[in-house]
Amino acid sequence: MIEIKNVSQSYVKGKKIIDNMNFTIENNTVFGVIGPNGAGKTTTINMITGILNIDEGDILIDGKSITKEPIEAKKQFGFVPDTPEMFEKLTGLEYLNFIGDVYKVDPKIRLEKIEELAKEFGIYGDLKDRIQTYSHGMKQKLLIISVLMHNPKNWILDEPLTGLDPKASFLLKKLMKEHAKKGNTVFFSTHVLDVAEKICDKIAVIDEGKVTFVGTIKELKEKSKTNTTLEESFLKITSKE
Ligand SMILES: Nc1ncnc2c1ncn2[C@@H]1O[C@H](COP(=O)(O)OP(=O)(O)OP(=O)(O)O)[C@@H](O)[C@H]1O
Ligand SMILES: [Mg+2]
Repeated sequence: MIEIKNVSQSYVKGKKIIDNMNFTIENNTVFGVIGPNGAGKTTTINMITGILNIDEGDILIDGKSITKEPIEAKKQFGFVPDTPEMFEKLTGLEYLNFIGDVYKVDPKIRLEKIEELAKEFGIYGDLKDRIQTYSHGMKQKLLIISVLMHNPKNWILDEPLTGLDPKASFLLKKLMKEHAKKGNTVFFSTHVLDVAEKICDKIAVIDEGKVTFVGTIKELKEKSKTNTTLEESFLKITSKE
């Protein structure tokens, strides 16, 4: 569970990029955040994960405060960022073993998980190669495997489907749903509204740093008085008169 409590963020003093944000992402839920470019999705995710300091308010991950007990809070989640940046000189397998050591994943379980997931994502044969030789999508797949390997209670992803081929994208959506079904939390940002519509139990709409909606897609359609697609509701709720 992730609780965002009265959070504000100004990169530059005087201009609030995130303005008093409040919402909770419950267990057993695939929770998507949608919003226009520059709305504050990545900023929100970077505050949840402790990459960016919070100006006001706090974020609790399974009850651990990212501001007061950052190490404990960071043990509660796995994160796939929007740009896959890794130690490029390592091979894929070395990287996975490094992450496995950090999260103290049992070596036997580690190997089983690596083999299963790398085969599913079609990069098993590439694990012996250095990451610097990987394509964008291959790096993303490696990051996804490294996170699932340590089986975090909370899985956070920033635009995870960008750059993935259709097969990998299908697999990732399946894994996200399965992970949530086991009682975990999956929180991700996306611009692909069809994906949000298909896999999210709940969504939040962020617009100009404010949360303008939290609820189910059905509730959003009711609120925006549209009864067709999420796209239509999204355009209506984020449109400026
Ligand atoms: N390091 C920074 N310094 C100053 N302003 C920043 C910084 N990073 C982001 N911003 C501003 O914060 C706002 C929100 O940016 P953010 O990256 O969170 O948007 P986003 O919703 O993730 O957008 P996108 O859909 O394009 O990924 C934007 O106005 C952006 O210009
Ligand atoms: Mg972003």
